[in-house]
Formats: sequence, structure tokens, C-alpha cells
Amino acid sequence: MSRLRQLLLLVVVLWPASAVWAEPTTRHPSAAAVASAHPLATAAGQRILDEGGNAFDAAVAVAAALAVVEPYSSGIGGGGFFLLHRAADGRDVMVDARERAPLAATADLYLDPQGEIVPGRSLNGPLAAGIPGTPAGLAYLCRHYGRLSLSQTLAPAITYAEDGFRVSDLYRTMAGFRRSALTADATSASIFLVGGDVPVAGYVLKQPELAHTLARIAKDGEAGFYRGRIAEQLVAGVRAHGGIWSLEDLAQYRIVERAPVVGTYRGIRVVSAPPPSSGGVVLIEALNMLERLDLAQLAANTQRHVVIEVMRRAYRDRAQYLGDPDFIQVPVAELTAKPYAQQLTENLMLDRATPSSSLPPVVAPPQGTHTTHFSVLDTEGNRVAATLSVNFPFGAAFTPAGTGVLLNNEMDDFSARPLTPNGYGLVGDRANAIEPGKRPLSSMTPTFLETPERIGILGTPGGSRIISMVLLASLQFAAGGPPADWVGAPRYHHQFLPDEVQYEQGAFDADTIADLTRRGHVLREVDRRYGNMHAILWDLAHDTVAAASDPRGEGRAVVFTPPVHAVAK
Ligand code: DON
Repeated sequence: MSRLRQLLLLVVVLWPASAVWAEPTTRHPSAAAVASAHPLATAAGQRILDEGGNAFDAAVAVAAALAVVEPYSSGIGGGGFFLLHRAADGRDVMVDARERAPLAATADLYLDPQGEIVPGRSLNGPLAAGIPGTPAGLAYLCRHYGRLSLSQTLAPAITYAEDGFRVSDLYRTMAGFRRSALTADATSASIFLVGGDVPVAGYVLKQPELAHTLARIAKDGEAGFYRGRIAEQLVAGVRAHGGIWSLEDLAQYRIVERAPVVGTYRGIRVVSAPPPSSGGVVLIEALNMLERLDLAQLAANTQRHVVIEVMRRAYRDRAQYLGDPDFIQVPVAELTAKPYAQQLTENLMLDRATPSSSLPPVVAPPQGTHTTHFSVLDTEGNRVAATLSVNFPFGAAFTPAGTGVLLNNEMDDFSARPLTPNGYGLVGDRANAIEPGKRPLSSMTPTFLETPERIGILGTPGGSRIISMVLLASLQFAAGGPPADWVGAPRYHHQFLPDEVQYEQGAFDADTIADLTRRGHVLREVDRRYGNMHAILWDLAHDTVAAASDPRGEGRAVVFTPPVHAVAK
């Protein structure tokens, strides 16, 4: 074989495909649906579908609206993943708009000269912020998949920013939680607090500078954010307060299209987020193990025990193997192969917990406390599952003056030092060490579940618990339940380390608690209910569409029939 042919073959083998293909959708849903964490964001998506946009245009509108009305969860100062299915040709792709480490970032960025972690440095202020991906993601979705212009799809968000929105109970809780960090930055405090305090319920919060920044993006696409005046203001603001961003960082930011990870579980095709998310790999690994164990044949408490044991094993691999695939080799095919699941379940006992300390040692994944997920389906069958984040509530609680852009603290998703706990008391490993331009490992798991009869679109925030929530929801889908069941079901979680089962109040009754304890599990009831899942079901067999928002949140799901339009971009 000639050298060139060898080289070409090598390129083909090593070059990751950027999409996978399902059958083109020949049927059309009888209705469209949008489910998001805020009624105003859901309304923005509905409006864009009513105006003739497709699901991808609606996703731009929803994401931008959430950036305004849910600033504690996501924003144009953050990043995330958009999982897309294009009905016309069956293309499944993940638009990776994850933040990147600044080029000046070093592995010891958050350590003092003695090599100790400096508390808070990866959490608060501009040094905690990765280079945002969401603005590029919105422009990318519009250019490559949308039908309408950005000025049309960003219009609802710009209006919400200019005219303001009423702060909700959740806003007030989150602002209270991050009040001292917000107070430390005069610009953030002037936008998100009132006289240094959490605004009263019903206060109308306006963000004129954010409206202006969104208008620049509407006019100039990503250049409106990553170049020119806004870019200069972002960099000047960050550097004036000890950050390390450069104009080069912003100019270099690129969206990456990645092929989703695909698995199967009892006839369900599972399409989910690939690295730099750990979500899809861990989800499919867990489902592969469960498939071997034939859950339906087991008693209810044994089912829970088995699900916990499977979570333990899949999360162990997360900590060991996962990171940004542009920097490290992630053995995705091996981890998601069915025979590997057999190996993993060989030591799984039905009557006893397997102590995490008896499995090969690794380190645990990072975990966050706020983020957002939304799901969209249009009447052509196009779908979006998007999970977007600024990491902590209100991200780094820092807003470069003049931009209205609240920055993320996604840098805390890196492991600042091997085996040393991050902001949440958890640890990471070398695969996820900080490197210039690298994307921090994520747990965000936007997912499609597909059978010939039913298609599910789902995801949730919740840090490392995201994956176990999507796993539990996938089992609900497999059992045939409606989206209200997937989002409403009580939750429990195991992530290998700490070696404990975390569960929501009411998730386990006294009998289950006694039973799981007898099997050797350490149980810990978490102090509040967690997650904020927004899901859609297209039931092809019955020609119906259903959608549901998590009862734990303030979100809204709508199913409606948009008018038929002939539109041009
Ligand atoms: O990417 C991640 O995994 C985290 N930054 C997500 C944080 C999160 O979900 C917090 N949510 N409640």
C-alpha cells in the first residue's frame, strides 16, 4: 500500500465521525412541543415555532431566553451541549459549545506556591471562568440548522432583557445562595441584587447591557461576541480583576460537531452526549449492565439494589477514563461495548453491596448545583435536547463591566489537583487536568430514546447526579411510562465515591431502607429534592405528543400545533 493510502486510511480510522445517522423521519408529529425550566423561555420557543422556525431555531430562542430569565443556570457567559436530530436526513449530532480553558491556563492555576488549593479561586471571579461557548453555539445552530435569522430568534430574549422579567422564588433562593460572591463584584451586584440584597418577589429585573450584547450577536453572529467591542470589554473586565483571558482566546473559540454515543437497551436506541461529556458513556455502560440483569424479573428492592450497583461501576469508569477527547484518548467504543458490561457485572451480588473500596481505586467526578435543560420537537420531527450551564448558581458571580455577560465558573469542573476535592468536596484525575484550550469534563446528558413506536427527548441539570437521573428516566421510558413519570419519579444516586446511596426524601420507604441497609449499602437522604428535567414524548403508535416539566422546578411544557408557514431566511 502506498504511504499516502496508508496515511489516508489512518486519517479515516482516527478521525472521529462528526455525526451518526438514523433513518430519515418519514412521519411527522401531530404537534410540536417545548419543555424548559422557565415559562418565558418556553413561550419564546413556542413563538419561534409559530413564526415558522424549526426546532433548531426554537432552541436558539429558548437558550437565549434562559440566558436572560434564568441567569443562575445558564447564559451567554457559559456553555453546553445541543443534541440534534434532523428529520430530513436522519442526522444525529451533538453541537459541542462547552467552555474551554483560556490559553494562559496552567495545571496549577488554582494552587498556591506550596501546591495547596486556594479556596474559592476556581469558583468565584474571572479566574474561574472558561471561554464561553454558548454565543458560538447559537450562531452555529442558526447558520447550519435553522431557518430563521438570529435577529428573529434572539428577539424574545432581547425583549426580556430590555423590559425585564419578574424574579421567581427560585431566583431568590439562588441569589441568596450566591449573595456574598455576587456582592464581591460591583457590576454583578448592581444587576442581580438590589441594594446588596436579594430582590423581593415579583421585582422586575432588567438587563439593558445584556440586551445590547445579545443585539450585537443578533446582528453580527458570533463575531459580535468573540471579536470587536464586546470582546475587548470582556477581556478588559476579566483582566482588570485578576483573570487571564486574551482576545486570542475569544477569537480562537470554535464549536465542535461530535458524533453522539449510541447504544441499545432492550430494543431502545439510546443517543446521548459523547465526551467531553461523561454522560452518554456512563449512561450506556449502565444500561448495558442492566440489560444483562433482566430488571423486570427482580423484586422491587432488588431492582433498586442492582441499579445502585450499576451506577457505582459506571461512575468508577467515568472518573478513570473520561476527559476532553481533543486532549486525551477516551476508549468510548470499549466502555460502551456489551461484552465489557458482562465483565463489569461478574462481581455484582444480588444480596450484597460491593464496597467501592473493593473495586480498582480511582477518583470521583465533580458535581455542580445549577444548570438548565430543555427539549424541543417540531412538526417535521426535528428534535433538540440541550443542556446548558454556567456551573454554580450565577456561575463565577462576575460580570465584565459594560457587557451584561455573567461569566461561568466551569473551570471548577476540571480537577485542580489529582486526588484533591474540588468546590463540592469531590476529586478528579489526570485525564481531566487543566490544559490550555481544553474543555472541562462534564456530566451533562442530553439524550434521545428511540423505538419504532416512541421517541423520547430528555435531560436535566444536577451535576454528577445528571447521569443517574437520566438513567432512572430511561428505565421509566423502557417501562412504557409517560414523560410526567420520567420527570416526577423519586431519585436516588450512587457515584462510586463517596461510597453511599444518596436519595431524595420519600424516594425509599422504611422497608426499602431496611432492605438496602441489610445488603450493605450506606444510605444518605439528601436535604432537598434535586434535578430539573424537561422531557418530550412523541408516541408514533398513537400519533400523540406529550411533554412534562419537572415538578421540582418552575418550568413549563407545552404541546401545540403551529400554523403552517412558507418562510425564507
Ligand atoms: O458540566 C457539568 O457537569 C456541570 N458543570 C453541570 C453543573 C450542574 O448541572 C449543576 N446543576 N444543578
